[in-house]
Amino acid sequence: MNDNGNSREMAHFGYRKVPAHEKVHWVLRHFDTVAGKYDLMNTILSLGIHLVWKRTAVKKMGLKPGDRVIDVCGGTGDLSVLAARDVGPSGRVVLYDINRSMIQAGAHRMIRPSLGDCISFVQGDAEEISFSERCFDAAMVGFGIRNLTYPEKGFQEIYRVLKPGGKLMCLEFSRPISPLFRRVYDWYSFSVMPWLGELIVGSRLAYTYLPESIRMFLLPEALCSLLERVGFTQVAFRRLTNGIAVLHLGVRGGT
Ligand SMILES: C[S@@+](CC[C@H](N)C(=O)[O-])C[C@H]1O[C@@H](n2cnc3c(N)ncnc32)[C@H](O)[C@@H]1O
Repeated sequence: MNDNGNSREMAHFGYRKVPAHEKVHWVLRHFDTVAGKYDLMNTILSLGIHLVWKRTAVKKMGLKPGDRVIDVCGGTGDLSVLAARDVGPSGRVVLYDINRSMIQAGAHRMIRPSLGDCISFVQGDAEEISFSERCFDAAMVGFGIRNLTYPEKGFQEIYRVLKPGGKLMCLEFSRPISPLFRRVYDWYSFSVMPWLGELIVGSRLAYTYLPESIRMFLLPEALCSLLERVGFTQVAFRRLTNGIAVLHLGVRGGT
């Protein structure tokens, strides 16, 4: 796992500072805690809206039958299932995630006759993707990139495994743009979410990390600059639900 060789460097796990080389273990523990109730919590916390965002995001990728797609930080596989429907039996979707419990929690939804054997699972670190370069037509990362120790490294890896002209889709939480809505959202995030986390998952801490990690992550314009620095072209973003989530799209340039 990547520690960029500097054992004294620090990284954020929510608002908490942890040694950079340890962050991945904090993230692993977090998702071990929430895996069993992850889908249920997503639906309750977002009132089901996360599925609308995910459908919109996959539609925007314009996948074609036969495409090869990687779902980085794929978790329980909502995006993989949607992509599998678009690429069809001649295509392939690789759900790539570091956490075995998350993959296992969603596997039953991906192994079903209507999807054939289109989806496969690979456990691995997004900062060191275990595929050779230029082997995917499209890559997506949904609500995962902010968990990485070095998000830029994750995007570099995604760039590397995409074919020239391959599409990137990144869906990530952000902050509402309306000041009034933001105040309500902040109250909801720091009062209701941890309370529900305690009630349903038995961990207040797990659902304190969620809003904190969102506040620590890049704003949409800064994420655009990061993607362009990595080499993506045609980078654009669209806010969803007043900016609670943001959809970024980009294309791998070069030949
Ligand atoms: C919030 S979940 C998102 C799951 C899914 N993409 C979705 O939209 O519902 C974030 C996922 O990122 C994974 N993850 C975190 N750090 C990772 C890393 N370094 N490499 C690969 N996956 C990672 C976690 O295990 C978790 O399954």
